[in-house]
Amino acid sequence: MSAPIVVFAAHKGGVGKTTTTVNTGRAVCAREWVEPSIPTRAPRVLLVDLDGQAHVASMLDVARASPTLEDVLLEQPGVPAVDAVRPSYVPGLDVLPAGEGLYDADIVLARRVAREQLVARALAPLRDAYDLILVDTPPQRGLLTLAALVAADYVVPIVSAHHLALEGVLGLRRTLRLLGEEVGRTPHLAGYLLTQVPHNESGARRVVADMRAEFGAEVFATAIRRNAKVAEAPQYARAVADFAPDSAGARDYAAFATELLDRVGLSEHVPPVEAATADAES
Ligand SMILES: Nc1ncnc2c1ncn2[C@@H]1O[C@H](COP(=O)(O)OP(=O)(O)OP(=O)(O)O)[C@@H](O)[C@H]1O
Ligand SMILES: [Mg+2]
Repeated sequence: MSAPIVVFAAHKGGVGKTTTTVNTGRAVCAREWVEPSIPTRAPRVLLVDLDGQAHVASMLDVARASPTLEDVLLEQPGVPAVDAVRPSYVPGLDVLPAGEGLYDADIVLARRVAREQLVARALAPLRDAYDLILVDTPPQRGLLTLAALVAADYVVPIVSAHHLALEGVLGLRRTLRLLGEEVGRTPHLAGYLLTQVPHNESGARRVVADMRAEFGAEVFATAIRRNAKVAEAPQYARAVADFAPDSAGARDYAAFATELLDRVGLSEHVPPVEAATADAES
């Protein structure tokens, strides 16, 4: 089976893309993969870190040793992506770490032929080895984000309740429309994910209400609440489900994972469980 590629994207930095990539991957791996006449096992999930900051790797305690995605995407000929894959401490959860050189991707790739296909081509040989591939994109809109969207089967725009959300959403819709016109291929919209939602700030509550009024069922029913444990967990190189299994953040990402698996057509293999956080280990 070929893993669907899901890209987390935004028109703004700091909205929670990386946090969502890591904690969603962790939440999926806490579940079971079910297939007829095969024993159940943990899902196999690959996290792809397209941001030179390499926070996906550091958040999961993965060392940034060569080769990295920099060697895969920017070298000529590129290193096969499989050589750059590293296991995380979570069984089933692997990482393709970024290298710092990815900051310069737009310059290095400026003259490269078919550069928008770069991510799709790099990931193609890995798709059969995984059940799900989640891609984190950099804060700035550039070639790597474009190449990620070209590779994507699904896109999940991340909308922070703290920012001028609608503006960013309309910008991203425009990018996707352009992509369809220029490249002839656009990913499916899995849904908008609202993040960093505070309990009691009227401005932020209005953003959530506006998004739901404007985009209805295109907005995931799960919103990720602002939660101190989510922000603290990376300092310990742990996903929130391991750092604080009973936190609101761990519960929100478990619920989001259930919705996402459904929207990308995997709920038959990863059936919903009653309390998805009960599986957290500590
Ligand atoms: N639900 C949340 N509750 C509390 N803090 C959060 C939450 N989500 C994200 N944060 C914090 O917000 C900051 C930005 O999050 P993150 O790095 O995931 O965003 P990003 O979109 O990947 O940013 P960039 O565009 O720089 O890559 C981080 O400090 C993170 O810990
Ligand atoms: Mg990030």
